[in-house]
Amino acid sequence: MTSARVIDLVSRMTPDEKLGQLQIIFRPRPDDAAALVRRGLGAVFWPRSSAATNALQRVAVEETRLGIPLLVGLDVVHGQRTIAPVPLAQAATFDPPLVEALAALAAAEARSGGATMTFSPMVDVSRDPRWGRVVEGFGEDVHLTATMGRAMVRGYQGDDLSAPGAIAATVKHFVAYGQPEGGRDYNAVDASPHRLRNVHLESFRAAVDAGAAAVMASFNTVAGVPMHANHTLLTGVLKEEWGFAGVVVGDADGVRNLLPHRVAADLADAVRLAYDAGLDIEMGGAPWDLDPADLAVIDPARLDDAVARVLSLKEALGVFDTPYVDEHAEITTPDAASRALARRAAARATVLLRNDGTLPLKAPRHLLLTGPYAESTDHLGAWTQSFGAPAGSIADALRERLPQTEVRVAGGTGFFDGSDDDISAARAAAQECDVVVVCVGEPSTLTGEAASRSDLRLPGRQEDLIRAVAGTGIPIVVVLENGRPLVVADWIDDVSAVLEAWQAAAAIVDVLLGAVNPAGRLPMSFPRSVGQVPIDYAHETTGRPATVRGSLAAESQDIGLHGPDNVQEKFTSKYLDLDLGPQFAFGHGTGYATFAHAAPQLSRPTITLGELEAGGTLTVSVEVANTAERAGDEVVQVYVEDLVASIAPPVRRLVAFDRRTLDPDETHRFSFALGREQLGFWLTDAATARFVVEPGVFRLHVGSTLESTQAVELVVE
Ligand code: GLC
Repeated sequence: MTSARVIDLVSRMTPDEKLGQLQIIFRPRPDDAAALVRRGLGAVFWPRSSAATNALQRVAVEETRLGIPLLVGLDVVHGQRTIAPVPLAQAATFDPPLVEALAALAAAEARSGGATMTFSPMVDVSRDPRWGRVVEGFGEDVHLTATMGRAMVRGYQGDDLSAPGAIAATVKHFVAYGQPEGGRDYNAVDASPHRLRNVHLESFRAAVDAGAAAVMASFNTVAGVPMHANHTLLTGVLKEEWGFAGVVVGDADGVRNLLPHRVAADLADAVRLAYDAGLDIEMGGAPWDLDPADLAVIDPARLDDAVARVLSLKEALGVFDTPYVDEHAEITTPDAASRALARRAAARATVLLRNDGTLPLKAPRHLLLTGPYAESTDHLGAWTQSFGAPAGSIADALRERLPQTEVRVAGGTGFFDGSDDDISAARAAAQECDVVVVCVGEPSTLTGEAASRSDLRLPGRQEDLIRAVAGTGIPIVVVLENGRPLVVADWIDDVSAVLEAWQAAAAIVDVLLGAVNPAGRLPMSFPRSVGQVPIDYAHETTGRPATVRGSLAAESQDIGLHGPDNVQEKFTSKYLDLDLGPQFAFGHGTGYATFAHAAPQLSRPTITLGELEAGGTLTVSVEVANTAERAGDEVVQVYVEDLVASIAPPVRRLVAFDRRTLDPDETHRFSFALGREQLGFWLTDAATARFVVEPGVFRLHVGSTLESTQAVELVVE
């Protein structure tokens, strides 16, 4: 509902003042920013302090004709002063309340400095680790991404955007940006309506449903139409079908990019196309680069609608009434509680990919630490604000925690370089130690925007380093710090344990020493080869599914196929030169405790369509016992398999999960409600898409990882 104040302001604004409210210009120098604000610019990027923010707000409020306060935007993606694990690592926690708490902390720190809007969460589902921006999202799964995106929106915004610890969330990048052809950032996306509805739109629908204040358009085309000029999706779906009443923000120069997209003949054409399509705030200042006469072609009612949306957001943020921030209250350094939360998150994000019992380390006498991350303090990851608190090094943390151990740092390589001497030195040092911890991965520069990679192996000579020390026969622990799934096939079988630590902080030592029992789960599949990409678990069966030896394939004749060891059938969907399936599946992860799962149970074996349509649910539950001598977290996942549907269903689809700590010998019954939302899917065969549940048999797979589930059947009548 548009307030009387907003209606009155819109009625009094000149065309130029209106356009001023419909732009944000990124990072102008302070003097330029003041001049732009004096002219009527309505939004700026955070000028790095509360004092600088107040200075610009004073220009807007006290030196312009209508005194409309500014929106102050910033990419607060994984922390502001307290640096949290990258979003992909946060997804690996399978812990939505934790993700919400991290977002609330980031919002409090950012708002205290004067920022009122973050360009986060990124909820682009992606199955292509070549794409550098997977680090900013929550992985390949629709339900996990939607759940974490919703949690972040709640954390950023709370219940009242005008509260001192709240900032407006901008969910991005709308839409399907995570499926660029070739995994190359900004490249074309040709997603079918079926794929759009059942994969890419769902996480945005969840974020909008959670009250996201803004949505950012993406750089890509969808079926040939650039998203910054895509009326069907920006207005048709987002604003009309979903009733989104917030603000659509363009991505940086996304409107100017309509020219190289070749859908606009000139900048005036581009600006008109964008606002007509449903954009509300242009990012980059294009409108003011035009002659006012060029803008007369934009539908005045559309511009008024955009201005009303922007002013309503400012009103919700409370900046009309309280435009200035208390400079004495600005949070500039994390406090102990904030650091502890970030460290807890980093520990809960770690995924123990494999372990032959070498971990947790038992206070070895001589430990070799090698690899580019051994002494690095760059544990931070993409979108790290340069004013974030520095992290410690793994070497320092180990020395502090293992006073009786000789912690040697030797040899090793950089991320991109490394001589034979470096590697020989590491090998020689390893032979004098009891255990080797190799800290390898990707530097932040290889992940994030415009950072697609065609080769998913560890960059430089890091693999040579691993093989060199592995050849000594000494137990080898590999710690991965990376922003995407990597191809690890060439060395994974030569080492004792592998810990996926993403680009989290130095909580890694907590896990290495057993102070923390890892329980993270992979939010993205690790491919065996880049040739498998895109790869995900929720794929279609195909008409000729290949199955792993010893499963259904047992019935098929063994044709002595030259090729994968684990597949027998010839005419099936597989690669001749690669084993079937990923190196590590979505949802994979182990830990230092062991759990026993009883058979899953249903509250009822059948449910009718009518009951589901009326909001009825049933419960699937499983009793889990901790059979170890130490406490640990279990992450129970529920996957739905629709045995027959109107469209080829995914082989499985995550619909629920819960992470919980169990003490030794403790038993807990995990319960999950299943209803229309979990059993249905989008049909896009008609002019308008519709969400349906169909009668039939569903198999519910419940377990600790995708590969260790037990099934129970449900009949929808
Ligand atoms: C970048 C990114 C977007 C970010 C924006 C503002 O190009 O695509 O995610 O929010 O610019 O920094």
